Amino acid sequence: MNFATRAAELSDTIIADRHYLHQHAELSFQEHETTAYLVDQLTKLGIPVQSFEDYTGCIATIRGGQPGKTVMLRADIDALPIQENSGVEFESLHPGVMHACGHDCHASMLLGAARLLWERREELKGTVKLLFQAAEEVFIGSRYYWDKGYLSDVDAAMGMHVWPTVPSGKICVQDGPLMASCDNFKITVHGVSAHGSTPHQGRDAIVAASAIICNLQTIVSRVNSPLNSLVVSVGTIKAGTQFNIITDTAVMEGTVRAHTPEARGMVEETMRRIVNTTAEAMGCTAEMEYKYLEPPVRNDDIALNDIARGAARELYGSDVLCATPVATGSEDFSYLMDHIPASLFAFLGCYEEETGCVHPVHNEKFKINENILHMGAAQYAQFAADYLEQTAGGEGK
Ligand code: NI
Repeated sequence: MNFATRAAELSDTIIADRHYLHQHAELSFQEHETTAYLVDQLTKLGIPVQSFEDYTGCIATIRGGQPGKTVMLRADIDALPIQENSGVEFESLHPGVMHACGHDCHASMLLGAARLLWERREELKGTVKLLFQAAEEVFIGSRYYWDKGYLSDVDAAMGMHVWPTVPSGKICVQDGPLMASCDNFKITVHGVSAHGSTPHQGRDAIVAASAIICNLQTIVSRVNSPLNSLVVSVGTIKAGTQFNIITDTAVMEGTVRAHTPEARGMVEETMRRIVNTTAEAMGCTAEMEYKYLEPPVRNDDIALNDIARGAARELYGSDVLCATPVATGSEDFSYLMDHIPASLFAFLGCYEEETGCVHPVHNEKFKINENILHMGAAQYAQFAADYLEQTAGGEGK
């Protein structure tokens, strides 16, 4: 089974799906028109699809003609609060909401894969579940489908993202770390207010907060191994009401990114120590909230990666594969990867100077050359078919 030719034939259909989804861009958890469109298209094809009364997104299920394992393919479907300025003819019809992270591409590619796999379902040795996932951009969309048990029968999974550090039309399936964890924190410093001219009568929360911000960077430079990537960033600081008042409260929020469980695991405790002792040194007190959002995306199942790379080679030859620098961005597919150990995340390159597709994701000018979308559809479908073929004869979950 090789899906390259049929996927290319379906290119116009995939592009048309993408135009609809791009024009009807919807924010996280508001993907109602998007979900309705996907359900409608899948239903018209005759593919069984499950949608949810209390949640957006849907899961299509294609049962093969022969028994075997269950493999899940995932696309996210939400957009961002960005006013589009990409110059494409099919701009978002929703003011201030734009598919600036390519999730419209992912959904149309997965719909393309559904078309490909459905046509050849008699030959499949197992089941393919296609997850159209809500609310990736707020990092918590993926949890629902796992936590509610809708994916408990899944043996292996693949997610994919169009990616602008990879040349357009190249496929990247890389071993090891790929994207970072994302954990957020909020620190509140309490001092004592006073007149700005008599600081000795107060306990300055701004000075204590400033010292905390500087000291937090020693987590990266002096506690973490220099061989592990780690980012600790304070993104907001809110303090004070007027120039001549020593303020008694300062609130900071920030984010922590890491590629290994080790680097990720030591941050909270170290941060608490630094926050408490630095505040104390300044005569203040502090409290901290630390929220674990998403683990890193790591492609640690090398045998599964080999199946995905084999699928890409089978479709487009060895030259289609390429490597890319590890990203410090995050992706909530990692929640599913944590629960489904046989899982991987792939990139489909979309950087192309000739067509002006040079902008990063989350930029109001982000665009892609749509002629690559059928390749993403083929990669999804080929991986699923090859995984089922290569694991046939084994017991599913
Ligand atoms: Ni994204």
